[in-house]
Amino acid sequence: MNNHGRLRSLVLVLGAGIVAIGRGYAQDAASGEKIFVQCKACHQIGENAKNAVGPVLNGLFGRKAGMIEGYSYSSANKNSGITWDEATFREYIKDPKAKIPGTKMTFPGLKDPKQIDDIVAYLKQFDSTGKKTGAVTVPAGRKFARAL
Ligand code: HEC
Repeated sequence: MNNHGRLRSLVLVLGAGIVAIGRGYAQDAASGEKIFVQCKACHQIGENAKNAVGPVLNGLFGRKAGMIEGYSYSSANKNSGITWDEATFREYIKDPKAKIPGTKMTFPGLKDPKQIDDIVAYLKQFDSTGKKTGAVTVPAGRKFARAL
């Protein structure tokens, strides 16, 4: 193989890597949407979302627990002092009753870390008005690949 050929295959390899990474992100949010079916029994998300059994989940990351207007939270949730970010949410959704003892969210939790990654990617797409921002999470460990 001459130098030109070698360069060509390097470009091809890098190109394939980027396509694979791109597809990985898409799958995260798309698979998160399927996991959200479990939440949908109680929660709505998106531009027309309304409070139901549970509060609207728009713009979750960055807001304090218990802040959705018109929703009647348990005092356990309201007084938890939690700000929802990736770390607090991940702990919570693994086992809601352990993170907020006394919460009225009767959901046993998501046990599979991959499912938690995906639901985070899905929820992150929605800003506080329920519009999809198109933002995607970069799961830890893929940062290097992304730099390529
Ligand atoms: C059986 C009904 C039910 C299911 C299923 C459920 N939730 Fe909840 N969720 C609730 C209720 C009720 C609350 C309010 C808790 C409180 O006030 O103690 C809540 C609260 C929350 C909160 C806190 C919101 C805030 O504003 O502080 C988050 C985050 C949340 N749920 C995420 C989820 C996700 C993600 C799923 C799916 C993986 C899910 N929930 C599944 C009923 C449910």
